[in-house]
Amino acid sequence: MLLDENYEELKDLAKKFSDSEVGPIAMSIDHEGKIPADLVKKLGETGFLGTFIPEEYGGAGMDYMDYSIVVEELSRNCASTGVLVSAHSSLCMWPILNFGTDEQKKQYLPSLASGEKIGCFCLSEPNAGSDAGSLTTMAEDKGDHWELNGVKNWITNGKEAGVAIVFAKTKKTDDYKGISAFIVDTNDPGWNIIKIEEKLGIKGSSTAQIALDKVKVPKGNLLGPPEKGFRVAMATLDGGRIGIAAQALGIARGAFDYALKYSNERIQFGKPISALQGIQFILADMSTKIAASRLLIYDASHRKNKKIPYSLQSAHAKLFAAEAAMWVSTKAIQVCGGNGYTKEYPVERFFRDAKITEIYEGTSEIQRVVIAANELKGLK
Ligand code: CAA
Repeated sequence: MLLDENYEELKDLAKKFSDSEVGPIAMSIDHEGKIPADLVKKLGETGFLGTFIPEEYGGAGMDYMDYSIVVEELSRNCASTGVLVSAHSSLCMWPILNFGTDEQKKQYLPSLASGEKIGCFCLSEPNAGSDAGSLTTMAEDKGDHWELNGVKNWITNGKEAGVAIVFAKTKKTDDYKGISAFIVDTNDPGWNIIKIEEKLGIKGSSTAQIALDKVKVPKGNLLGPPEKGFRVAMATLDGGRIGIAAQALGIARGAFDYALKYSNERIQFGKPISALQGIQFILADMSTKIAASRLLIYDASHRKNKKIPYSLQSAHAKLFAAEAAMWVSTKAIQVCGGNGYTKEYPVERFFRDAKITEIYEGTSEIQRVVIAANELKGLK
């Protein structure tokens, strides 16, 4: 798809950064299970950790299309780096930008946008995944502060994060109605990382289980109105899902590019396997799914830029791009055959990394729930 010139420039910059700074170490990020601090520093210096944050709060002053392009280009080489940027931006900085007071924005956004601090989002719990409204973490009013107690699960960036958006109930209810949102400094006493998950893919991205044990949160750190935290969570996830769709698109492109190149180089039956129609049809379907994913992501990003409702479009984008990434990376292994199944070839990593995009920030089933609910609402 043709992009406006300013987006093409950014895409070129992001592509060059990804190929020179991320590509050469993507394999070792996967093996070592860690994104080097030096890379995070460079992401901050380039403005990629604060793309859509206005310049007055220390960001790059770009928009949501720029952000999607950056996540796609980083994920094309390394999905772990892509999700570090995505969760940090969409799930931590965006709710502060959108629901925060001017004081909260001034206090938190500059250090996040520069990468001095990394952000995370704490909604899920051991017994509250897709049913996020059933969370049981409590925030008790202690007069001059809130006291938070509970356990949070599957927290992307949980190990590195300096700032967290935490959802807790200020009123005991069985449903979402008592939930409020808070900005929490993770160096406050009582913030305890109790487990770092061993995972199938995105091994360079930390996924933490965190216990909140009497964490003292200043009164001024309530984010948005009390007991309206579920709306904060849902609106945040609408944007987050665009980021995960862009991550999935990057993974699919990485896998496709490699399979395409391999099919031209691999000689069987006296010719490159790309001369075989059976391979060409696979490559054609990969290319089509990638192009369709991109259009859905750009549509959702464009609507977000224009402040036009995008809940339906972000669910479309995440559902389609995640399933496309899984399909494309599976077929990329098929094209590369026995070689593709080994750890020497990157398609094996793209295949493992693709799976999570069908799970986090709302499973593919939850995206279908959101899509159907939006369409049915429209019919009323
Ligand atoms: N924007 C703003 N508000 C919204 C909204 C949206 N898109 N969708 C719903 N709401 C509001 C509604 O207006 C309603 O609020 P009020 O009563 O104040 O009007 C409230 O939310 C409840 O709405 P519903 O009855 O429609 O919601 P529900 O209880 O049926 O749940 C759901 C809907 C789609 C299943 C939701 O629970 C959901 O998205 N679940 C998945 C959670 C998820 O994605 N978790 C991932 C966590 S992040 C992660 O993966 C970790 C990480 O670090 C990456």
